[in-house]
Amino acid sequence: MSERHVTGGSAAQPSAFRVARVFPDLPDDLLLNLFHKGAKVQWTSRDLDWDSPVVMTDRQREALAHLLTPVYFGEQSAMAGAGGILPKLLLAGETTAALYVSSFIMDEARHFEALTRLYRQLGLEPTKLRRIPELLRYHHRIRQGDRADWVWGILFSDVIAKHFYRSFGVAQADPLFGEMSKQILKDESRHLAFADHYLRREVPKMEPERRRALVEMRDDLFRILSAMTERVRADAAQFEVDSDEYLAAVWADIEKFSRRIGLSDDDSGPTDDDGTDSGPARQEPARPTPPVISLASAQKTAVPRCFGCLLAALCGRRLAPA
Ligand SMILES: [Fe+2]
Ligand SMILES: [Fe+2]
Repeated sequence: MSERHVTGGSAAQPSAFRVARVFPDLPDDLLLNLFHKGAKVQWTSRDLDWDSPVVMTDRQREALAHLLTPVYFGEQSAMAGAGGILPKLLLAGETTAALYVSSFIMDEARHFEALTRLYRQLGLEPTKLRRIPELLRYHHRIRQGDRADWVWGILFSDVIAKHFYRSFGVAQADPLFGEMSKQILKDESRHLAFADHYLRREVPKMEPERRRALVEMRDDLFRILSAMTERVRADAAQFEVDSDEYLAAVWADIEKFSRRIGLSDDDSGPTDDDGTDSGPARQEPARPTPPVISLASAQKTAVPRCFGCLLAALCGRRLAPA
C-alpha cells in the first residue's frame, strides 16, 4: 500500500481527517522552532492580578469595551479559522506548519478567554455586531481562498493586534490590561513570525495574477479596517490615540511585510528589507499611501448574517444546535 494518503479517501473518513503520510518528514525548520517556543511559554488569565484596581474612568471603560470588540472577535475567529486550516496543512504535507498552528490555536484560545474575563471585570459587553457591520465583512473576506490566503489574513490581523495592544494596552496606565497586553503581544509576535516565514516561502512560487489577488485582499482589508476605525475615533481619543496615526502605523507595517514576502504594487518581487520590528505604534508615523476608504466598496461582499453563522463558516461546518 502506498504510504501517501494512507488514512484518507473512504466514505467513513471525511477528507478533513486525511493526512499525507503517517510518518512524515519533520524538518528542523523555523516553524518547528516556533512550535517549541509557543509550547514552552504558556500562560493563562489566572497568572494575571485580577485584584488590581481598574485605572480608567467610566468613559474610558466604555471606550475600551468598544475598541476591544473587533480584537475580541478576531481572537475567536483566528481560533476557529486555525482549526479549519489545520487538516488542510496536514493533507498538503506541511507538517511543521500544522504543528505550529496547533500551538497558535491555544494562543488564540487564551486571548479569547482572557478578554472575556476582562469584559466581566469592566462590567461591560462587546459592541453589538449590528453596530459594526464591517466586522463581519472583514472576517468573511479573510476566510476566502486557500492556505496562503488564510495566512495572509492572519498576518494582517496580527499587525492590527500588535498595534492595538501597544497603543491601548502597554501604553496605558491600567496595570491589569497593560500586563495582559504584554503577554498577548509576545504570542502575536510569534504569529507574525510564522505568517512572514510561511508567505516568504510560498509567495515567490505564485503566478503574478495570484500575487495581485493577495494585494487586492490586503487593500480590501485595509478599507474595511479604516471604516471600522472611523466608528471608534471618539473612543480612541479617550486614550489619546489618534485614529489617523494608528491607521498610518498599521499601513506602514503592512507595506513592510508586503515587500518582505514579495508583494508590491509593481509586482517587483521580494526586497532586502530585514523585517526589523517597526517599533511602537505611537512613534512618528510613516507617510503611507493606503487605499482610499470606500465603505460602499467594502459593502460589496455578502456576509453571514450572525456570529453563529460566521463561526460555522470559519469552521467549515454547522455549529451544534443549542
Ligand atoms: Fe490573538
Ligand atoms: Fe494572533
